[in-house]
Amino acid sequence: MLDASENELLTQVSRGTPMGELLRRYWMPMAAVSEFDSDGVKPVRLMGEDLTLYKDMSGRFGLVDRHCPHRSADMSYGFVEQCGLRCNYHGWLFDHHGRCIEQPYEDVAHPEARFRDKVRIKAYPVQAHAGLLWAYLGPPPAPLVPNWEPFTWKNGFVQIVFAEVPCNWFQCQENSVDPLHFEWMHMNWSVRLKDKGGPYSPRHLKLAFDEFEYGIVYRRLREGMSEEDPLWKVGRVCLWPNALFTGDHFEWRVPIDHQNTLSVTWCFNRVPKEREPYVQERIPGWRGPILDTQTGRWISSHVMNQDFIAWIGQGTITDRAREHLGTSDAGIIMMRQRFLKDIEAIARGENPKATIRDPEVNRCISLPIADRKRLIEGMTLDEMWRHPMASGQLADYLFQAGQPREVRKAYAEAMGIVE
Ligand code: FES
Ligand SMILES: [Fe+2]
Repeated sequence: MLDASENELLTQVSRGTPMGELLRRYWMPMAAVSEFDSDGVKPVRLMGEDLTLYKDMSGRFGLVDRHCPHRSADMSYGFVEQCGLRCNYHGWLFDHHGRCIEQPYEDVAHPEARFRDKVRIKAYPVQAHAGLLWAYLGPPPAPLVPNWEPFTWKNGFVQIVFAEVPCNWFQCQENSVDPLHFEWMHMNWSVRLKDKGGPYSPRHLKLAFDEFEYGIVYRRLREGMSEEDPLWKVGRVCLWPNALFTGDHFEWRVPIDHQNTLSVTWCFNRVPKEREPYVQERIPGWRGPILDTQTGRWISSHVMNQDFIAWIGQGTITDRAREHLGTSDAGIIMMRQRFLKDIEAIARGENPKATIRDPEVNRCISLPIADRKRLIEGMTLDEMWRHPMASGQLADYLFQAGQPREVRKAYAEAMGIVE
């Protein structure tokens, strides 16, 4: 349980708030590179800041203020040039550093004044990596965009999935260190959603949480499992500062503002051995719905949609003074304490946990992966159909509702499935 001031400390993300300053020390994924197959412009909101993301005609990405510094027109209706983004109102042109490089009227009528040298638009660095576009809103020097090990894997089909979830990011991230909910929310509730009375899934018998350099590992032992099982020996990862990593996918909970979160999934599916060598030409990105418009209720058919129901149900910013934490919540307590300590570390001018600055380290950052062998070595299509987890993933995209047909088609082609 937390009092109101601690709750505020952990949940508020705008510039100048302690957690807002902490999160600004990390690169945040915000869009898919393939959303910009050609040049383009789109509005984004990150940690309470309204911004404009664009790709100019030279192929360079930029992230600038939503509003023009001239008279505040909406830059997301601007148009790109060979270099930079031009405001559609009076034509001022800005480069990706935020410099004003043209003011069409002033440049002609009063070139000697060089007014444009006195004007800047807010601009942040953007990097493309692993099919994602990452933004850094913090103080220089920026750390490196993490090169997590799965980003280096070959022979996989990757897709990127987004959803806007109307609640605060921190309760979403608490879900990343909450293994017990898997049994109830995903296994048993799914049984009941199919109108079956059972059987329920094996119960959790033991949970363990261990902090490591890049987050917290959680491990589980369930009925019928031996202590040699990789889920107990290796476990899964609550990845710092705002992600879940399960081996074949990452889920980031990116704060849009205090009250909304962008869920970003990067999902890797190893192609069958007989499809090797496989090189993916384009990593698709898609946005899934969360509301069932027929019933007016949240969609509950897919794993992450079920998670969204939990997060939203806790309240827009959940009131942690009302909770009653049990021993299953040990990881959540560990995570909160670590953030509170890092908020103090930042105030002392230190780096928070898991900011990566050494290019040698960042060549490939290994993480604990329970299913490493299957993901790296792969299986034949036949073996995949017989494997409980792989076969489910061949049949459908299990994590989120709404996969577009063209993405399913590209996936089926990659896997060599005839549909
Ligand atoms: S408001 Fe943007 S150029 Fe005038
Ligand atoms: Fe979940």
